[in-house]
Amino acid sequence: MNVMFVSLGCDKNLVDSERMIGMMSAAGYTLTNDETEADVIVVNTCSFIGDAKEESIQNILEMAEYRKEGRCRALIVTGCMAQRYKDEVMQEIPEVDAVLGTSSYDEIVKTAEEVLGGGEKVQSFQPLDRLPAMDQKRVVTTGGHYAYMKIAEGCDKHCTYCIIPKLRGTYRSVPMEQLIKEAEGLAEAGTKELILVAQETTLYGVDLYGKKSLHVLLKKLCEVSGIRWIRVLYCYPEEIYDELIDVIRSEKKICKYLDLPIQHASDRILKRMGRRTTKADLAEIVTKLRREIPQIALRTTLITGFPGETQEDHEELMNFIDEMEFDRLGVFTYSREEDTPAAEMPDQVPEEVKKDRQNELMELQQEISLDKNADRVGETVLAMVEGYLTDENVYVARTYMDAPGVDGYLFINTQETLMSGDFVKAKITGALEYDLTGEIENEFTE
Ligand code: F3S
Repeated sequence: MNVMFVSLGCDKNLVDSERMIGMMSAAGYTLTNDETEADVIVVNTCSFIGDAKEESIQNILEMAEYRKEGRCRALIVTGCMAQRYKDEVMQEIPEVDAVLGTSSYDEIVKTAEEVLGGGEKVQSFQPLDRLPAMDQKRVVTTGGHYAYMKIAEGCDKHCTYCIIPKLRGTYRSVPMEQLIKEAEGLAEAGTKELILVAQETTLYGVDLYGKKSLHVLLKKLCEVSGIRWIRVLYCYPEEIYDELIDVIRSEKKICKYLDLPIQHASDRILKRMGRRTTKADLAEIVTKLRREIPQIALRTTLITGFPGETQEDHEELMNFIDEMEFDRLGVFTYSREEDTPAAEMPDQVPEEVKKDRQNELMELQQEISLDKNADRVGETVLAMVEGYLTDENVYVARTYMDAPGVDGYLFINTQETLMSGDFVKAKITGALEYDLTGEIENEFTE
């Protein structure tokens, strides 16, 4: 039997897909990328903002065509949209045979079997305070040289714009022994870079060990042989703590990189967003991180057009970004999500204004990024090869300053033959807005 997966949304959701692929493979299913060859199709959906929902619906509808006419005999919808619109998905798209909530994805094999056996339609929504079983090996789909590790599920922060606590439940950390075992398995299979993700990584361990324990986990992961880089994403600024800073500074394997979503910088808007930081706090955290870990690359994300955001708030945010000079930055426009407090707030901002503000921020960041990249020309860096662009005859690589998919790349011109996952020493020879160009350097002193 063949199974095909369509994985949408974020890297946390991708880990769930990879777990399901692992479970299906262990049960004897063969993975295919061809819809016409699949007996079972699983669409693991996202429901974070309007565009993501649209994309999920389009994908389910597209796969429903193969369920109607092709070889497919089981169409299963999982993930955040399944959790959020349990009944609608099945009622509106009759080709869907089963819907599994975000805490029920470990029932994928049983569900596929029930549907293929000609049973009734299946719906399963386990309580959102449960962690699905992790006893099967994951099948990594990112090429293998890097892999995401989801260290916790859910979120208790309840920012006023965010629907995720309703889709993913309360914060629960994955036990440390389980994560170490997972990391060892990934390393054995060739993973060199571990990327730690969760809705919020900095709080890791509070529920299980009574205190923040990300620094302990990081130290243990550094001992896993074969792992060369460890990167941490999604750190709430107010939760950054001293032991964490110490471990990032002192452990060689930990990338001097932090993803610190701040969302805004106007105190008025931060308060309306339900964030726990002020502009002054944010400036203090950024300054401290840069003082304590001088080479650190800081990434952040922002939301423009939150209800009530005035031109003044926007300008305040622009000034803050100009001053802080984040190394990497992403900007989303606010999406009005039903069942969130912000959706009910007055003074919703017109779509056009949100977009204009997003563009202005991105233009500002382009200048910052180009300047920072230009300053790096001449430096020799360690980079991990990601792949090869045949048309342009260049290798694509990343430095410690860049997470895959969201940050920049280093394009390397060389006659040498390189493989994905190889580490090379490269000299930066040119700077683009977000990317760098370089060549292989023979001499390198780390
Ligand atoms: Fe991720 Fe989308 Fe769910 S961003 S947590 S897949 S709503």
